[in-house]
Amino acid sequence: MGEYKLLLRHSGDPSYATLDGYQRQGGYDGLRKALAMDRQQVIDEVKTSGLRGRGGAGFPAWIKWNGLPKEKTKPHYIICNADEGEPGTFKDKQLMETCPFLVVEGMTIAAYATQADVGYIYIRGEFVDAARSMRRAIDEAYRAGLLGRNILGSGMNFDLHIHTGAGSYECGEESALMSSLMGERGMPRLKFPHAPLPTISGLWDSPTLINNVETYACAPFILANGGAWYASIGASTKNSRGTKIFSVSGHVNKPGNYEVEFGTPLMELLEMAGGMKGGELKACVPGGSSVPILNAEACQKAIIGYEEMMEVGSMVGSGGCMFLNEHTSIVDFIWRTSIFYKDESCGKCTPCREGTRWMFLILDRIRSGQGRMEDLQLLEDVCRQIDGRSFCGLGDAAAWPVAGALKVFRHEFEEFIRSGRSLAARA
Ligand SMILES: Cc1cc2nc3c(=O)[nH]c(=O)nc-3n(C[C@H](O)[C@H](O)[C@H](O)COP(=O)(O)O)c2cc1C
Ligand code: SF4
Repeated sequence: MGEYKLLLRHSGDPSYATLDGYQRQGGYDGLRKALAMDRQQVIDEVKTSGLRGRGGAGFPAWIKWNGLPKEKTKPHYIICNADEGEPGTFKDKQLMETCPFLVVEGMTIAAYATQADVGYIYIRGEFVDAARSMRRAIDEAYRAGLLGRNILGSGMNFDLHIHTGAGSYECGEESALMSSLMGERGMPRLKFPHAPLPTISGLWDSPTLINNVETYACAPFILANGGAWYASIGASTKNSRGTKIFSVSGHVNKPGNYEVEFGTPLMELLEMAGGMKGGELKACVPGGSSVPILNAEACQKAIIGYEEMMEVGSMVGSGGCMFLNEHTSIVDFIWRTSIFYKDESCGKCTPCREGTRWMFLILDRIRSGQGRMEDLQLLEDVCRQIDGRSFCGLGDAAAWPVAGALKVFRHEFEEFIRSGRSLAARA
């Protein structure tokens, strides 16, 4: 339990971002092993590993990999979601800047398993250094015969391209990302069961696999060491295997990315980040701004694992972990979060377009000292109208933090309304 450097083990070594340095540390062993197996065996290793998507939802990776048709009648595509727009999350940035070959190799393994001809890395536009690092790695891989035609003499062909986004949070949502990649507006599309899964009909109506940067970066280790070896990491949890990178920020002494074994207590992650700065722990948002907030008591009990985190009322999410000290006004924090979701709502569906604006307006009224007690009930009603009723996950992501804060820190909202100012400001 505790810190477990697997993906980030060589992150501090600049030579790891070069092909030579990467191969010196065992890089491309995973792809070599994969190419010696048949495609289904590769998918089975990923199944055995218990790897779940690291982009937020924790969906089992092998089910997606297995979902592309085995009989190929159209081109197959794979996409790496490197948009990393969730506030508080900056792990994919570090992975791409310092370990770019993990992503290239992981995608090549996935391409082999799914018979993909072409891959796209959709990188958030602001990540200039990450895009530069990925481009360098891709060029080197082409020169070494690790991308392009007849990879390592296996007969496999795979081309990999980079596409930079334009800074919209919504473009991290997979169907909006695909629209954007195809040159359309970055808006979401109808989803399963109302439309086929991307693995059947994604980019240009062709079978498409989409995974997060960290998900792909796990694949080389799984193939090199075996799925069973990977599954032994984190085995104390119900159904979370391997490691997870947390981007720790907020009131901590050493903010940064920390990789831990699943099963690690949340408080141990706080210790790794140097403990609290400027006051006692008051709250934590463990998985990015869209997951419900935990109070200090729940933090003490929280274990890092997909199911374990839900037991205390929150989620692992994308791993954007913000610790807040006793001087933080939760009303201010949630008000600020609501601005983000209001601004990033794409406007396509009514519950989210109207609801995110109403949530902001009510929170803004409370924050300006004009709040009424009925506003709390009203806020909860608005959350209920958005959650599960919106066209894509952004609506839920906007409602959960507000609903969560009202549940756990209701007394702070009430006190703010009664006195017109924050409890924390007077502490
Ligand atoms: C509004 C919104 C934004 C998202 N942003 C990201 C993102 O920046 N990066 C990411 O990997 N997944 C993001 N996701 C999740 C993706 O839709 C998708 O589930 C993920 O890329 C799948 O990869 P995984 O299975 O490896 O987690 C977002 C989802 C929503 C609803
Ligand atoms: S929930 Fe609706 S309005 Fe909000 S981003 Fe998704 S489609 Fe757009």
